[in-house]
Amino acid sequence: EKAGYEHFMLKEIYEQPSAIKDTYRGRMLADRGIIRMAGVDDNLEKFLNAKRIIVVACGTSWHAGLVAEYIFEDLARIPVEVEYASEFRYRNPVINKDDVVIAISQSGETADTMAAIKLAKENGAFVFGVCNVVGSSISRETHAGAYTHAGPEIGVASTKAFTTQITILSLIALKLGKAKGSISNTDYHMYLNEMELIPSKIEKALESNKHIIEVAKVYKNAKNCLYLGRGYNFPVALEGALKLKEISYIHAEGYPAAEMKHGPIALIDEQMPVVVIATKKGHYEKVVSNIQEIKSRKGKIIAIVTEGDTSVKNMADHVIEVSETFEALTPLLTTIPLQLFSYHIAVMLGKNVDQPRNLAKSVTVE
Ligand code: M6R
Repeated sequence: EKAGYEHFMLKEIYEQPSAIKDTYRGRMLADRGIIRMAGVDDNLEKFLNAKRIIVVACGTSWHAGLVAEYIFEDLARIPVEVEYASEFRYRNPVINKDDVVIAISQSGETADTMAAIKLAKENGAFVFGVCNVVGSSISRETHAGAYTHAGPEIGVASTKAFTTQITILSLIALKLGKAKGSISNTDYHMYLNEMELIPSKIEKALESNKHIIEVAKVYKNAKNCLYLGRGYNFPVALEGALKLKEISYIHAEGYPAAEMKHGPIALIDEQMPVVVIATKKGHYEKVVSNIQEIKSRKGKIIAIVTEGDTSVKNMADHVIEVSETFEALTPLLTTIPLQLFSYHIAVMLGKNVDQPRNLAKSVTVE
């Protein structure tokens, strides 16, 4: 069932182009400029009148929620708060009737996310689910929802669930942005056309696999690793660090690049690999100056850059290219090399990639 792949995780990484296509197929009709999703269409007024969106989730799904925060605020101009379900449920949070709560969960069984949903419902909020497992508890408990059509995800480390969650959330943001007039018609159409190109751009990103193996060889014995990104790629940095931690047991932290000087830069020395997402458009110049700060302290830079980049290439110890796309869609591409990097390190260290120690695929206890 691993279809010739050594691990489910690798299979699932390679399934992302088709998983994303399956997720938007029938929902996004780019040539006609239509996004239709029953769960959103049937509740459109609730979304359009929402004073705020609260995302509740855990782990990787929480990272997808953070990406959604950027895209919803950017394109649909709706304020978004992203909450760890475990904190939200016990905090006596302020929940209003005109809040829309989006619960994100691959398995649809996560106990904390479920409890957060129940609390939101008790307080009169409309709760929308983004789940992968059809018929799961969360998909049944929510008022409406949209499934990611990623197919079964077996590897404990979430990969295709993450990129398909971002796909769904981007479609919702685009749909609302169009309905509210907060994005122009031209931009809306351009986004839809660009979204259709994402699967082939992911294929392209996967072609860096051999190069990533070489980079992984250099850093497999690292004790720590930092991941930096800004804007849309800040959550990708968090996700990259989580992937490395959970399957290779190397300590890793993700930060918004500009936070370095508020503390973490003290960690930098020649032993410290720093993965920097430095794609064009996303505050590129600022990220470049963050890279310089790390270089001058002898940190090792692994940079994820836009194809054809030259300035970062001159500074970084390694560069991994991804295709150019709209800034809001870059997480769908920049995530790919980070998944492969952590995968190969874990394999080289002989770890149990698909079933890392101490972890379960769905966390049904709090
Ligand atoms: O099934 P869920 O999306 O609700 O799961 C949430 C987290 O437990 C999950 O994303 C976890 O962090 C993964 N192991 C990350 O790879």
